[in-house]
Amino acid sequence: MCGIFGYIGPHQASPILLEGLRRLEYRGYDSTGLAVKNGAISIYKKVGKVQQLREILPQTIEGNMGIAHTRWATHGGVTDENSHPHPSAQGKVVIVHNGIIENARMLRTSLNVQGVKLVSETDSEVLAHIIERELSIDDNPEEAVRRALRQARGTWGICAVFKDHDMIVCARNGSPLIIGQGINEMFISSDPHALTAHTQQVIYLEDGDLATLTATSVKLSTLTGGDSSTKGTTLENDWGESELGDYPHFMLKEIYEQPDALRHCINGRLDRTRGSGKLGGLKLSPAALAKVPHVRLLGCGTSYNAAEIGRLLIEKLARIPTFAHISSEFRHNDPVIHPSALHFAVTQSGETADTLSAIKEIQLKGGNVHGVVNVVGSSIARLCGRGVYIHSGPEQAVASTKAFSNMVAALSMFALQIGRSRNISKERGVELIHGLQQVPHLVESYLENQGPILEAVELVKNAKSVLFLGRGISAPVAKEGALKLMEIAYIPCLAYPAGEMKHGPIALLEEGSPVIFIAPNDHVKTKTASAIHECRARGAKIILIHEEGDEIAEEGDVCISVPPVHNLLSPLLTVVPLQLIAYHTALELGCDVDRPRNLAKSVTVE
Ligand code: G6P
Repeated sequence: MCGIFGYIGPHQASPILLEGLRRLEYRGYDSTGLAVKNGAISIYKKVGKVQQLREILPQTIEGNMGIAHTRWATHGGVTDENSHPHPSAQGKVVIVHNGIIENARMLRTSLNVQGVKLVSETDSEVLAHIIERELSIDDNPEEAVRRALRQARGTWGICAVFKDHDMIVCARNGSPLIIGQGINEMFISSDPHALTAHTQQVIYLEDGDLATLTATSVKLSTLTGGDSSTKGTTLENDWGESELGDYPHFMLKEIYEQPDALRHCINGRLDRTRGSGKLGGLKLSPAALAKVPHVRLLGCGTSYNAAEIGRLLIEKLARIPTFAHISSEFRHNDPVIHPSALHFAVTQSGETADTLSAIKEIQLKGGNVHGVVNVVGSSIARLCGRGVYIHSGPEQAVASTKAFSNMVAALSMFALQIGRSRNISKERGVELIHGLQQVPHLVESYLENQGPILEAVELVKNAKSVLFLGRGISAPVAKEGALKLMEIAYIPCLAYPAGEMKHGPIALLEEGSPVIFIAPNDHVKTKTASAIHECRARGAKIILIHEEGDEIAEEGDVCISVPPVHNLLSPLLTVVPLQLIAYHTALELGCDVDRPRNLAKSVTVE
C-alpha cells in the first residue's frame, strides 16, 4: 500500500528518492511522486509505475533533501492531481501522507471558507494547507505540524518539507514510519527494506511521535509536545536477499525460496529429546500452556488461510477448542475475550490495519496477543511484544507464497509444543519433528519434478470460474489455491470443503468445468474421492493434487503428485503446485504477476 521515502543529507536527493520508491514498489500502488527542495520545492508526480515517473523527470534535479511517495488510492481517483506530494496553497509546505484523515470533509469545508482552493480530491491535501496556515503564526515547522495534526482525526504517517527551512518534519499515528540514521544524512521510510541499502541504524516511530530531521540530527517528541520514549535500534542484517537476481518474477523466486525459508523457520526450534517444539519468543511455560481454555488465531488473506490450518493442528494435537478469525470481522463482532486464552495475530507484513485493530480490541479487553510475524520490528511485532518470527526473508510479490509456508510451519511447531504440554506422547511428537525436518527437502524435490502444471494451466486459463475442493486440513489449502489464482490471474475462483460441494457449487459444473482437488493420503481421502466422482459425472475436468504412488491418481484428468509427508504437514507440499498453477496461468494471460491490479502487499487501512 502507500509508501513514503525521504532524504536529507549531502547527496543529490532525487536518485536516492527514486531508488527508495523502487524498493517500496512491491507494497502495491497506482501512482508515484517526489518533491525535491533547492530553494524552491519542485514537485513531479505521475499515475503509473516508478519507471513512468522516472521518464518525466528532468536529467538532473538539484537539491539535497526531498520526500517521495507511492500512492494506493483510497480518497479520490487514480489521477496525477491526487498523487502525492501535495503542496500548500502558497507553496511553503509540501507533504506526503499515508493513512486516512477521517475528518477531511470538515477540514476541507473550513479551508474553503477561508478562501483556500484545494486542487485534489484527497483527504491528505488538507494537511498541507493547515500546516501552512499554522506556520504563518510563528514560522516554527515542528509546532505547525504538531498543531495541524491536533486538528486531524484518523491515521497518518506524514512527512513535510518547507520552502524556508532545511528540515523534514514527520509524524506517525497508525501508519509506519522508520527513520534511518546515516553519517551526516537521514532517511525516512515506511518500510525497513528501503533503508537497508543505506544504514542499519533505525528508529521505529511509535504512534503519537513527531520527529524533526536535519542532515545531522533527529529530534523526537510527541504530538502533545512532551518527550518521546522511542529509542533507536539496529536492523538485522541477515534479513535475506530482496533483489530479483536471475528470476523473471519475485513470485517465482519466492516459490523456489520455500525450502530454505522453511529451514530458517524450523532451525533450532525443535527439541528431539523431548519430542516438542521450543518457541522461546512466546515466553509460555508448559504450566501456562496447560491452563489455556481456548486459542484464537487472527489474520487476513493468505495469513487467515494459514491460521485455519494452525487451528486444525492445535485442536488435533492439544485437544483445545481453537478458532480462526478474519481480522476485519473480529473487532466489530464484540468478541468475548478470556484473559487466560491464547490469541495469535498471523501476518506477513506486521502492518495490516485490520489485524492491528483486532489486536488492540483484544488488549483492551484484557487479553494477550502473540505475533506470528515475518517482518522484524513491524508494528504488530512490537505491539504484541511476544511471538514467533517466521523468518521467511523479504517477500515482495503481492501473492504470498513462502510466508504462507512458514506461517504453517511456525503454527505446526506451536501445535506440537502445546500438544506435548497437554495431550500427545513424546513418540508422536518425535514423529512430527521428523516430518517437519523432512519438509524442506521434500519441497525441493517436488520443485525439481513439478508434474504437468502447464496441462492444468490449459484447463483453467479460459475458464469462467475454477472450483477448488479439499477436506480436513486440505480445505484451507483449497482456499489458498483459489486466492492465489484469483489474485494474480483474475479468474473467479471458489473454494469449498469437498463434502459441501454437493450442497451448492455443484450447480456451476458443466462439461469441461475445471475442478482442482487437493487429496493427500489422509483419513478423509476416500470421502474426497466420492466428491471427485460426483464432479466427473457432471462432465468436470479434474486436476488432482495427490501423493506420489497413490492409486487415487486414477481419478484425475491432470494428476500432479507431491512427495508423501507426515499427514498433518501435507499443506506444506500440496500448496506448492497450486502456487505454480496460479503463477503460470497469470503469465499465460499476460497479467502482472508480482503486482496484480488493485491489490497491495501491505494493507494499512481498515
Ligand atoms: C493483503 C495482501 C495479501 C495478504 C493480506 C494479509 O491483502 O494482498 O496477500 O495475505 O494482505 O497481509 P499480512 O501482511 O497481514 O499477512
